[in-house]
Amino acid sequence: MATRVEVPLEGRPPARTAKSPPCALVVFGATGDLTRRKLMPALYTLATGGHLPDAFAVVGCARRDWDRAGFAGRMREGVDEFSRSKLTDEAWSWFEPRLEYVRGEFHDEATFARLRQTLEDIDGRLGTAGNRLFYLAVPPDEFEPILRGLRAVGLVAPPGGSAYSRVIIEKPFGTSLETARELNALVGGVLDESQTFRIDHYLGKETVQNIMVFRFANSIFEPLWNRRHVDHVQITAAESVGVGTRSRFYESTGVLRDIVQNHLLEVLSLTAMEPPNTGHADDVRGEKLQVLRALRPPWSDTVPSDVVMGQYGGYRAEPGVSPTSTTPTFAALRVHIDNWRWQGVPFYLRAGKRMAKRVTEVSIHMQPIPLSLFGSGDLCEHVEPNVFTLRIQPEEGIQLSFSAKLPGHDFTVTPVVMDMKYTEAFGGEPPEAYERLLLDAMRGDATLFSRRDAVEASWAWIQPILDWCEGPGRSDLPVYEPGSWGPAEADRMIQRDRRQWRNP
Ligand code: BG6
Repeated sequence: MATRVEVPLEGRPPARTAKSPPCALVVFGATGDLTRRKLMPALYTLATGGHLPDAFAVVGCARRDWDRAGFAGRMREGVDEFSRSKLTDEAWSWFEPRLEYVRGEFHDEATFARLRQTLEDIDGRLGTAGNRLFYLAVPPDEFEPILRGLRAVGLVAPPGGSAYSRVIIEKPFGTSLETARELNALVGGVLDESQTFRIDHYLGKETVQNIMVFRFANSIFEPLWNRRHVDHVQITAAESVGVGTRSRFYESTGVLRDIVQNHLLEVLSLTAMEPPNTGHADDVRGEKLQVLRALRPPWSDTVPSDVVMGQYGGYRAEPGVSPTSTTPTFAALRVHIDNWRWQGVPFYLRAGKRMAKRVTEVSIHMQPIPLSLFGSGDLCEHVEPNVFTLRIQPEEGIQLSFSAKLPGHDFTVTPVVMDMKYTEAFGGEPPEAYERLLLDAMRGDATLFSRRDAVEASWAWIQPILDWCEGPGRSDLPVYEPGSWGPAEADRMIQRDRRQWRNP
């Protein structure tokens, strides 16, 4: 039973999308998959939507022996295959002359001298005004030579001048608290924090941004969003795919570093934070940080009951995976936020690969009603508590489940659902996360990027869990059936609290 929420389309104010100022974007590692599959299609879609200025260029910088024409040709194929907006000759004829390629090793200063020359030529030809955005789409061990190279040839100007220099860094931001601190110190030695844009692509998803709007732009939900009304919260990020071709990366990463430390904790912070004073980047990020700081630290005697790890059956036979691998592909955690709003309300987090279906959602489970008015005590047992579900992906939307009287001559109570779907309400799929994030970095808006203190706070919280899971004698990972909702141990963890996972 579904009730559609009507969203008036007429009379809605036009979206306020400020164009990027002039900008030359340099992508280090431009021959990799990320550029072809995500960055270039996102830039092309921004271009077709009129969000990029004429004074715009992309410079690919990598080791491979490509030239400008070869780079442009491959980027065209990527756009054709992956872009949200259709590749047309007309749009491509605007885009293509704005692509450049610089070949070189990252530890070679000559590479950066050539890059500098290319950027100066672009400034002269297209009017990009010295504004530079550097995207590090490379493994973390290449960050250092690149940052040093940029500094050596004077391509990183301090903030406050007439032109900007900013750097976008891809996750993972370290592999532990210690390495995250080292990485932040390295970046901080070359750049001011205001020039540093750490990408967590979850924050660019429309539905993740909407968590704040849902909570703070509606007066009816916020009064309920606390320990007086909420029984518990579940956040699930389930993928149906396995490790695919990324086993080398995944073997040394595992689900806690790949998804929980970043994507899930970002979603948790947005779900649990206090209303910020303003929508400015540092107010929003400051409130999110408060949530991370209020997370109850895991202890060696609480981790065994609050954390379940698992590995999907067949993972060890995947190409590139060790036959004795103990890398977890699934995690379920019970998390506590020790603050005024959430004390006593557990947050259950769950992430995994090769699960029953691809679904990411946040569900807010309201407290059950007190003794029922309706019929016998037996019937009361069947009145389901209300649940708000924020569907992050796919089938993006928001659902509210509530109880209604089943039509008929008896007083039978049954659950029904109000269902808002993005495609129906707004007529189309939401934009790709990278479109928004690239545009924001060009506009200098860091709200949707992770700040140094929050990155360190999330590592500080998860480190004891990593230490425990990777400690001696922890090789007995439960194995779960591919295509299931994870190991039975995860069900038992939540059932001990007399609750159930919502398996949509
Ligand atoms: C990435 C992880 O950050 O997020 C991948 O490294 C994962 O392992 C991906 O598959 C999931 O992203 P999305 O947008 O498909 O949910």
